[in-house]
Amino acid sequence: MLLNLNVNGRIREIAISPDEYLLDVLRKLGYLSVKRGCDTGSCGLCTVLVDDKPVLSCSTLAVRVHGKKITTIEGCKKEAEQFAEFMAAEGAEQCGFCAPGFTLTVLAMMKEYDNPTDEEILHYLNGNLCRCSGYMSQLRGIKNYMEAVKKDEN
Ligand code: FES
Repeated sequence: MLLNLNVNGRIREIAISPDEYLLDVLRKLGYLSVKRGCDTGSCGLCTVLVDDKPVLSCSTLAVRVHGKKITTIEGCKKEAEQFAEFMAAEGAEQCGFCAPGFTLTVLAMMKEYDNPTDEEILHYLNGNLCRCSGYMSQLRGIKNYMEAVKKDEN
């Protein structure tokens, strides 16, 4: 079948078989930031946004997102770079495997929650495993980033 996707604002068309997963389709299209970790829906590395909501692309059949808006980290370069600086400032740097899915999840959370508590942040991110740094330093980095974005908006 022919699949149509809007990836990072660009319409992409690709022939797929009905049993292909979104992760493989996106990588075939050249979005190599989308990583395969566990491939069982447990680690969050493969997270992308579908209509602005985090989705595990390793567990999502591509046919289910036909015609939808997909966001990968390539589509949020500016925010991702800024976020990485705030994480680094707290000693919470991440490698290229964890960072794309983790960052997209944080950006989605910021659209859903205006002022999340620590518990809400940790809960939102509990599907994104990261062995690069401690979870508390990540929490500080996220909160500092959210505060800076809010200041910029005002
Ligand atoms: Fe998809 Fe781990 S690779 S959740």
